[in-house]
Amino acid sequence: MGAVGILSWLLLLQTVPWAAGARPCSPKYFGRDAMVCVCNATYCDTLDPVVLPAPGTYVKYESSKAGKRLERSQGSFQRSLRAPGTRIEYNLIRLPMACSDFSVRPYSYDDVPHDYELTHFRLAEEDVKMKIPLLHRALAMSRRPLSLFASPWTSPGWMKSNGDVRGKGTLKGQAGDKYHKTWANYFIKFLDEYAKHNVTFWAVTVQNEPLAALLTPPQFPTIAFTAAKQRDFVVQDLGPALARSPHRTRIIILDDQRIHLPHWAKVVLGNATAARYVAGMGVHWYLDSIVPARCSLEATHKLFPGHFLLYTEACSGFLTFRFSVSLGCWERGNHYSHSILQVLNHFVAGWTDWNLALDLEGGPNWVKNYVDSPVIVDSSKDIFYKQPMFYHLGHFSKFIPEGSRRVGLHSSCRRLICQLEHVAVLRPDGALVLVVLNRFGWDAPFAIQDPAVGFIETVAPANSIQTYLWRQQ
Ligand SMILES: *[C@@H]1O[C@H](CO)[C@@H](O)[C@H](O)[C@H]1NC(C)=O
Ligand SMILES: *[C@@H]1O[C@H](CO)[C@@H](O)[C@H](O)[C@H]1NC(C)=O
Ligand SMILES: *[C@@H]1O[C@H](CO)[C@@H](O)[C@H](O)[C@H]1NC(C)=O
Repeated sequence: MGAVGILSWLLLLQTVPWAAGARPCSPKYFGRDAMVCVCNATYCDTLDPVVLPAPGTYVKYESSKAGKRLERSQGSFQRSLRAPGTRIEYNLIRLPMACSDFSVRPYSYDDVPHDYELTHFRLAEEDVKMKIPLLHRALAMSRRPLSLFASPWTSPGWMKSNGDVRGKGTLKGQAGDKYHKTWANYFIKFLDEYAKHNVTFWAVTVQNEPLAALLTPPQFPTIAFTAAKQRDFVVQDLGPALARSPHRTRIIILDDQRIHLPHWAKVVLGNATAARYVAGMGVHWYLDSIVPARCSLEATHKLFPGHFLLYTEACSGFLTFRFSVSLGCWERGNHYSHSILQVLNHFVAGWTDWNLALDLEGGPNWVKNYVDSPVIVDSSKDIFYKQPMFYHLGHFSKFIPEGSRRVGLHSSCRRLICQLEHVAVLRPDGALVLVVLNRFGWDAPFAIQDPAVGFIETVAPANSIQTYLWRQQ
């Protein structure tokens, strides 16, 4: 196996067996094969921390449509041919700067017109009473460092061409003028205010979906940028403002669909000054099915190998008029894993979900853009449901820590259809991880061979995902 890519931030996850401290799923069915795990104030299924198995043995974690959820088993490598944590260790958190559509109201941090000095800039109640306390709890509970990044949906209305936080507009004026300087300073104020609460951000994206106008409802809060306008804002305003500030926060460009790659990267990173200010590119998954990974992600990586690609948003149930939330839907879990496997194999360093939790309707969302989420909360009953998507994420995040590197994997299959999807990574502790997804309705027997250890004959059951973990000596 040869190292072919660097996964610097990896997803976030954790798992498992019902030994010491671990507790099994409390299942609830919403139709045949549509199962969620129910959690309440006193009970939630949990996993033990990953412990590397003895040399010559491996551990396997399996989830399946048939009802398994990160179930642990172990086995030994054959010599000749013939993985008290209670969490999935997901460690990337994206936080909207002021409102997104998934807020209960439209607002910015400075709705006082023409306040170019931002003297009326204030965090909202949502930040102080909800987001910050929740972040403090997450930071305290996490075994691994969390990487937080923030994204603006909209500037104050008085900076926008349409004069409103709601709806689509562009930033008034042009790069280098008072609107753009004020907007850059707004980022710094945001970071300053959060720092006062001991919350620091690893990165900011320049704009959530700068080209969102195509897909989103008319009231959707956004400011549009072209690639050239984003480049000029970074070069003349945001880059210098961050560099002058005490914050070591990175800049992520694009934060929109991969259909805009590699064009967006060429326009922004093709400018040497912009390339110095920018750390990487954020990608959303919504139009992935119409743009091959090779000519978007891989092509961009080849042009700009020094800038990371990070998936910054994904969710199921978008643009559907019925099933925004589909409780227990295994196929939505498959869709997550299929995306993660595909993009990790095309030079992407991490994958971020959209909402950590939503209500039964798939909101709240003040433009009624309801979608699904790995965790669905029924506040009337004081319970929440962990959906198959949650466990699919866990099959990656728990086992592939930051600093892991993807390694080459040679696969061959004897049948006409190669039904297994996979990725192999080498962890910083030297252990190997193989994730195998079977989206088909029949079992797939297969073998794993690691020349350093031996081989395993095993089966990927119909509609299942497995994570294998072993060490090479
Ligand atoms: C919480 O869930 C557990 C396991 O399903 C159950 O035994 C317990 O009665 C529930 N507690 C409440 C307050 O509903
Ligand atoms: C921030 O951290 C410092 C040092 O650990 C502590 O003294 C202070 O109370 C914290 N402030 C907040 C708002 O959590
Ligand atoms: C980068 O873009 C800025 C405009 O924002 C321009 O003034 C500058 O000349 C460009 N630099 C390079 C090296 O292309």
